[in-house]
Amino acid sequence: MLTRRDTLLAGAALAAMPRAALAKAPPRILTPKPGMARLAPEDRPETAIWGYDGFVPGPEIRVPQGEKVRATLENGLDQPTTIHWHGIRIDNAMDGVAALTQDPVKPGETFDYAFTVPDAGSYWYHPHNRTWEQMARGLYGSLIVEEAEPPAYDRDLVIMLDDWRLTEDATIDEESFGSLRDWSHAGRLGNWPTVNGAPQPDYPVKRNERLRLRLYNVCNASVLVLRLDGMTAQIVAHDGMPSAPAPLDGTIILAPAQRIDLIADVTGDESALMLAGRENFRACGFPVKGIARPKPLTDPVALPPNVLPESLDTKDALRATLTVGGGAMGGMTEARIGGFGAAYRGEDPVEGVLPLRTLAMEHDLVWALNGVAGMPTDPFFSVERGHIVVVKLVNEGRWPHAMHFHGHHFRETTPGSPWRDTILLDPRETKEVAFPADNPGRWMLHCHMLEHQAGGMGTWFEVF
Ligand code: C2O
Ligand code: CU
Repeated sequence: MLTRRDTLLAGAALAAMPRAALAKAPPRILTPKPGMARLAPEDRPETAIWGYDGFVPGPEIRVPQGEKVRATLENGLDQPTTIHWHGIRIDNAMDGVAALTQDPVKPGETFDYAFTVPDAGSYWYHPHNRTWEQMARGLYGSLIVEEAEPPAYDRDLVIMLDDWRLTEDATIDEESFGSLRDWSHAGRLGNWPTVNGAPQPDYPVKRNERLRLRLYNVCNASVLVLRLDGMTAQIVAHDGMPSAPAPLDGTIILAPAQRIDLIADVTGDESALMLAGRENFRACGFPVKGIARPKPLTDPVALPPNVLPESLDTKDALRATLTVGGGAMGGMTEARIGGFGAAYRGEDPVEGVLPLRTLAMEHDLVWALNGVAGMPTDPFFSVERGHIVVVKLVNEGRWPHAMHFHGHHFRETTPGSPWRDTILLDPRETKEVAFPADNPGRWMLHCHMLEHQAGGMGTWFEVF
């Protein structure tokens, strides 16, 4: 109930404020820069990280649905960066993809982002330049778009799950950055999990308290298998978008970049979020202290829907197939090298098909999409606005992938599938997704296992 009332109060305060004052509110400033964080337990030193404003996670951004977000990126790093607003059906020019939608922002320079947020839900922001290094060092934060009328719950908790590759003295293992072995296998898997940048934090709760838990996988490459102990929960959203409430029974699989929203009632004595896939490592605890109400709430938990079509008529859809090739033991012997980056830098593109060995040794490329390693000069497909697109994603290899489409949410064509922005493709798996191409621009489509992306698994499509 608290949340509903707080929201109403906040709404009243906003209503009392003249519109013009809101429009002139100064943009927030986000400064990616070095900082220190206590990632490891107390017996180890703090870790030098890169974070927005020096923190990991960066500041939480919370805005009402439909509002405008204004943020100025001030680059305090010694390498170029951008900010991508992951999952937002955003104006293309604000998507933050280096070389595709904007120039990378050089050290000491700034870039102004301003965009409206059409959908309520759990989104996030992170760099889109050398993402594999910048995210591994701690650059990410949450972007929460609030419903005007959320269901009743007592508290809203953002849980950003990361895993770091740390050395014995808790410094970030820098030597393995760029390791082609990682790039061609599962990506950079960490050895130390954190929640919200802390080692196994505790979030005290009350018996029968109702929580909204927003779970994020912000790992570079790890697929997380999660279990929630001591709570009775329902899954109410996938990748930000509301879905029909479904009881949580067993584990949740969260691929890199995916999110799940839960409405969870504290019904047990020992509450914790466990990494079931890692020998039941306790990611964070929810010690039960006090009592919120004598019995758990029974109010409905469904989130109000965002504006997305109920069903997709795929009869006249544009159809395309995207086949993943390469990686270790993938059987790929050669691929064409994508010319987009070279063209962007004003260089002559490398022509023709190259053996995998040359691609790897000279270009750090070990993966291909439809036989092209790295961003192709021409789009994967080009479609007129308003058409439905069906993409068949084919993984013939031995590694999982987390395929992410920019600017659009999609759903699997199997009935009842939720809207998502990132989908897990297991080894030897094929999935078919469909979406309305309703957002004009040039959009990236890539694996969100960031080493795979850097190693060649990125393409783009165009909506005109
Ligand atoms: Cu979360 Cu293209 O990224
Ligand atoms: Cu991948």
